[in-house]
Amino acid sequence: MSKFNPFNSTIFNKVIMAITGGILVLFLLGHMMGNLLIFLGRDVFNSYAHFLQSTGELLWIIRIVLLTSVILHVITALRLKFLNNASKPENYKIKSYVKSTLYSRTMIYTGIMIFLLVTYHLLHYTIYVTNPEFSEFHEQYGPKINTEAVVETNGVEMTVNAGEGIFNRHDAYKMVITGFSQPLIVVVYVLFVFFVGMHLIHAIQSMFQTLGVNGPRITPILINCSKILGWGLFLGFSSVPLSVLIFGLGKGVIGL
Ligand code: HEM
Repeated sequence: MSKFNPFNSTIFNKVIMAITGGILVLFLLGHMMGNLLIFLGRDVFNSYAHFLQSTGELLWIIRIVLLTSVILHVITALRLKFLNNASKPENYKIKSYVKSTLYSRTMIYTGIMIFLLVTYHLLHYTIYVTNPEFSEFHEQYGPKINTEAVVETNGVEMTVNAGEGIFNRHDAYKMVITGFSQPLIVVVYVLFVFFVGMHLIHAIQSMFQTLGVNGPRITPILINCSKILGWGLFLGFSSVPLSVLIFGLGKGVIGL
């Protein structure tokens, strides 16, 4: 008698896809809202970025959860593709109300593009491999002093000019505005978040289908909600690079 192996079950793998995908969608919503703070100015955006960096262990826990979700999501997607190819259609027990669309047929391609572009994004804005100068971008903030002085913060001595704040933090605002001052980078990011939106439109409705929330009445509503969320994330994310390129957002502030 053969033993039941959950890793060979389509439903088990789809549930893993839905849970890990759900975690990634929550991250994207939070990340987009954080990015939109850039419209409130340098101080607000840098305070937010500085707060994230200062959460220490919490930040690492979030990073580990995200990385685990991405790895499981990708492995399970490949596993499902293999299982779908190997099985006959009648083996799939849940009746699908979700039709094949451009979004569903391109999932594997948008997924691959997102993977490549996230890798580029991390090299660009998180570990600064493509632009090492970003690590040197710093901003003085906090109470301002009237004369030049040497200030010690966390054991590091620094000369602070008259009129500057006494604390020092990474200038994420200057980094993002400088990055998006190059039209090619803007095009790459807009394409990146376009693929994210396309991928999510099918992914979200598929997630509900997997979790059993489907039917002739509820599915069309969920499809519309997925479209609003997918295109909403696209617009929210792309508004930052496009505003820098088209309206020169922040360029005056950083002296570009
Ligand atoms: C125009 C769109 C985007 C902008 C402007 C943007 C901006 C940023 C910035 C500035 C950071 C570094 C934060 C810091 O360390 O201070 C960052 C980190 C990150 N972004 Fe984005 N991002 C965008 C889209 C995305 C998308 C679509 C994804 C995922 C699909 C994503 C995933 C990440 C991840 C995983 C990190 C690393 C978080 C960490 O571990 O510190 N970003 N992003």
